[in-house]
Amino acid sequence: MSILVSGGAGYIGSHTVLALLEKGYEVVVFDNLSNSSEESLKRVEKLTGKSVKFYNADMLDRVAMDRIFDENPDITTLIHFAGLKAVGESVEKPIEYYKNNVGGTLTLLESMRAHNVKNIIFSSSATVYGTPESVPISESCPKGVCTNPYGWSKSMIEQILTDVHTADDSWNVVLLRYFNPIGAHPSGLIGEDPQGIPNNLVPYIAQVAVGRREHLNVFGNDYKTHDGTGVRDYIHVCDLADGHVCALDKIKDAKGGVLIYNLGTGKGYSVLDVLKAYDKACGKELPYVICPRRAGDVDESYSDPSLAEKELHWKAKYGIDEMCRDSWNWQKNNPYGYKGC
Ligand code: NAD
Ligand code: UFG
Repeated sequence: MSILVSGGAGYIGSHTVLALLEKGYEVVVFDNLSNSSEESLKRVEKLTGKSVKFYNADMLDRVAMDRIFDENPDITTLIHFAGLKAVGESVEKPIEYYKNNVGGTLTLLESMRAHNVKNIIFSSSATVYGTPESVPISESCPKGVCTNPYGWSKSMIEQILTDVHTADDSWNVVLLRYFNPIGAHPSGLIGEDPQGIPNNLVPYIAQVAVGRREHLNVFGNDYKTHDGTGVRDYIHVCDLADGHVCALDKIKDAKGGVLIYNLGTGKGYSVLDVLKAYDKACGKELPYVICPRRAGDVDESYSDPSLAEKELHWKAKYGIDEMCRDSWNWQKNNPYGYKGC
């Protein structure tokens, strides 16, 4: 039995491949390397002493997808990370985002159906809740209005997968709604390697800490939060990776269904809280400048993660200090990411 991981060379994918190998799963990965490097998988192999079968392939390429399933008839399940994820870029390039994320998923689903592979665990996002009416956000909160094409692509794929199950109830669909993944494997060998200027908070702080950027721009200090800066539910990427292994265990013998889980810690931290934790991790006070709000940001977003604990027997283990410690360990050892090696 093998697990196919789409986008497995990327940030969350590489950490999940590592977790799967450590649990004894055989893993096949495909990735078009549009936002990643094969080096991440070489390091996963080094860390685990196990090998990963890798295909440099695009999910929009039906022939390539069919080849992967034909050559690996023991694939039972897809863990589906492949996708474009830059919120701002998605506003400028909606056609490219919908084509890649939604179109690519449809091609992949056609190929899965043709090969009778009907288990899928999908990387969704808390962004599908839109502006939350209240926090903490539980899975029973209705999906909301997304503020960008990236968010809509996640929301649409959730609907497509739900409809696929309605048409054929032998499909097992798990929608994992991540909150804010940060951090890196404690070895410092794999981590997040953003291209260009980081869009997200912690990769940006990490580059300030390592001297690649002058200061952090704090987007707004007039939110309705304890210090005025935005509050989010940060989750260690290794905890997130373990969540996928637990989801896999859950559907291993299931007879079909659609399951939805939040993956978060349930705790909210403000931008300044995170900065303070990072200061502690890197041993210096990092400079910041208060700037205007960023369009589309909400005051606070954090999860109620209790359903995942109850049904997946999964609970985040790491706190914010460990997340910042591991992010810094990765950044200081790889100041220019995988490119520097
Ligand atoms: P990432 O960019 O590091 O990983 C995505 C991978 O998909 C990359 O390696 C990229 O090369 C690959 N890819 C993109 N389009 C492809 C295509 N057409 N064919 C094959 N491979 C393709 O991003 P990540 O942070 O690891 O995110 C993984 C998934 O989780 C994404 O779907 C993302 O939207 C979702 N997610 C991420 C976050 C986050 O904050 N990082 C939050 C919620 C959801
Ligand atoms: N922020 C800054 N400065 C920065 C970057 C971010 O102050 O340079 C602030 C933001 O305003 C926000 C917080 O830090 O208050 C977190 O911002 P991120 O960009 O790190 O994360 P978001 O919560 O905006 O977005 C993340 C993912 C999206 C996903 C969304 C859903 O990046 O893919 O969570 O919850 F859709």
